[in-house]
Amino acid sequence: MKNSTIILMLAVAAIFALSAGPFAGSGDAAEYVGIAKCKMCHNSKAVGGEQYKVWEKSRHANALNTLKKEGESENPKCIKCHTTGYGKPAAAGANLANVQCEACHGPGSAYKSMKIMSKKAFKEDHAAARKKAKEAGLVIPPTEDVCRGCHNEESPKIKGFDFAAYKEKIKHWK
Ligand code: HEC
Ligand code: HEC
Ligand code: HEC
Ligand code: HEC
Repeated sequence: MKNSTIILMLAVAAIFALSAGPFAGSGDAAEYVGIAKCKMCHNSKAVGGEQYKVWEKSRHANALNTLKKEGESENPKCIKCHTTGYGKPAAAGANLANVQCEACHGPGSAYKSMKIMSKKAFKEDHAAARKKAKEAGLVIPPTEDVCRGCHNEESPKIKGFDFAAYKEKIKHWK
């Protein structure tokens, strides 16, 4: 191969790397944005649905308070499962207390955009809109593995985990 060809190939590769941004692949570069952003649209039937109202009453929404009562809310060994996206990239100012939407649905900086989470797009072609959201990092449906990231033996209070039964207890979908 000629040197000039190699240089051209490297230049093209560099441009691709730069333009990849948060939409690349599975959304690895995405940041956790916090519950307030999801609540904006997911607190009303007229927009994304009333999932926030269900979540707010769940034990997940109170998980950090549980640690406070034990005097352990500063202990990294505890907060990693009682908060959202612990140790991962977060948007400036994001409140990531408790086990929020993004703990199961993935970091939202790319998929929360109005272009992707568009009521119109989901109404017109649900499968296509879902595909686009997944490309921007949305995890849907979250599988048993996602839950087991926290519901495992490392938890000092684990009572066992039955995916079907536990899923039923957090039901916020049709
Ligand atoms: C700009 C408004 C808006 C924001 C912000 C937003 N969503 Fe959505 N979301 C929607 C709409 C609208 C739909 C489609 C609802 C429908 O199917 O009628 C949707 C759909 C979803 C779905 C279901 C996708 C599917 O395939 O059925 C999930 C999960 C979801 N949103 C999670 C989130 C999370 C988590 C956040 C916060 C990080 C968030 N959304 C932020 C408006 C929004
Ligand atoms: C980021 C960690 C994390 C993830 C991911 C997670 N959970 Fe949890 N879950 C917790 C914590 C922490 C509690 C305890 C909260 C408390 O009581 O303060 C909990 C509590 C629960 C409870 C209440 C248990 C009870 O005895 O009433 C249910 C149900 C539950 N989770 C279901 C699920 C399901 C289903 C998934 C996956 C779809 C999941 N969780 C994913 C951390 C997590
Ligand atoms: C690997 C993830 C993980 C870690 C680490 C973790 N927890 Fe939890 N914690 C959970 C889950 C999941 C539950 C819900 C358990 C269930 O209902 O089966 C929970 C529940 C609890 C509860 C509520 C128990 C109840 O039923 O009332 C307390 C209290 C608690 N954790 C304290 C702690 C403390 C203190 C630490 C640190 C020493 C800690 N946790 C570390 C995942 C974790
Ligand atoms: C503990 C994990 C967990 C948390 C926290 C969570 N979800 Fe979900 N969510 C799930 C699971 C699991 C499903 C898929 C259920 C199914 O279809 O089997 C789901 C489904 C959905 C759907 C419906 C998609 C469809 O197929 O119709 C929407 C919308 C959604 N979630 C939004 C949210 C929003 C918004 C929040 C925060 C207010 C949130 N979720 C918090 C686990 C979670």
